[in-house]
Amino acid sequence: MSGPTEPMGEGVRVIAIDGPAGSGKSTVARRLAERLGLEYLDTGAMYRSVAFAAMAREIDLADAEAIVELARTSDIQIDDTTVVVDGVDATTQIRGPEVTRSVSTVAAISGVREVLRVRQRAWAVERGGGVLEGRDIGTVVFPDAELKVYLSASVSVRAERRAGEVSALDYETVAADLAARDAADSTRQHDPLTQAPDAVHIDTTDLTVDQVVDELIARLG
Ligand code: DC
Repeated sequence: MSGPTEPMGEGVRVIAIDGPAGSGKSTVARRLAERLGLEYLDTGAMYRSVAFAAMAREIDLADAEAIVELARTSDIQIDDTTVVVDGVDATTQIRGPEVTRSVSTVAAISGVREVLRVRQRAWAVERGGGVLEGRDIGTVVFPDAELKVYLSASVSVRAERRAGEVSALDYETVAADLAARDAADSTRQHDPLTQAPDAVHIDTTDLTVDQVVDELIARLG
């Protein structure tokens, strides 16, 4: 785990949503942000952008120093619909099989996490808050978030959801990738995916997006 965060300051309203791939984080985070009039940040897209930049420049994933430098210097622009990395529209490619297969390696590098964590905190402070989703938002990036949420779902439902998003891939391939990524993200040394002790845990397997969002809004009081 990393050191303590800077105090967030008055008026910074952060909702942290963590969970494994396909647990419903992005859809829930997006809709919750809309309902609360906040902006939304997909932090996984930041890690994917660094993996994309490494691929584009043919940098060896084993060269951690070079990847950290890339994380530090890459211009990553993420909005609601597009992801642009160093001026190149990477929206589709960051979800493709190559990036998906390499992103856990990139996300395991502590220097990369440090650089992206600083950017994620700055993003929220600049906006007076926001809904951020990822793997370590409630545990590391914003441990004093107003609401911390941990979403889960059965492996089969998560794989179905992911297969539905990426039409070029079949269910078996997605399920295998997902299991490998879950294992890597949960067992890595730096900031592994874990549920914060004070997070609200919701199993989304049999719930609609609105049911989850309603439950979270009720928790906010
Ligand atoms: O949410 P996603 O599948 O797009 O995330 C891509 C990868 O990035 C995921 O395998 C783990 C990593 N990640 C992370 O380590 N920390 C975050 N806050 C968000 C994502």
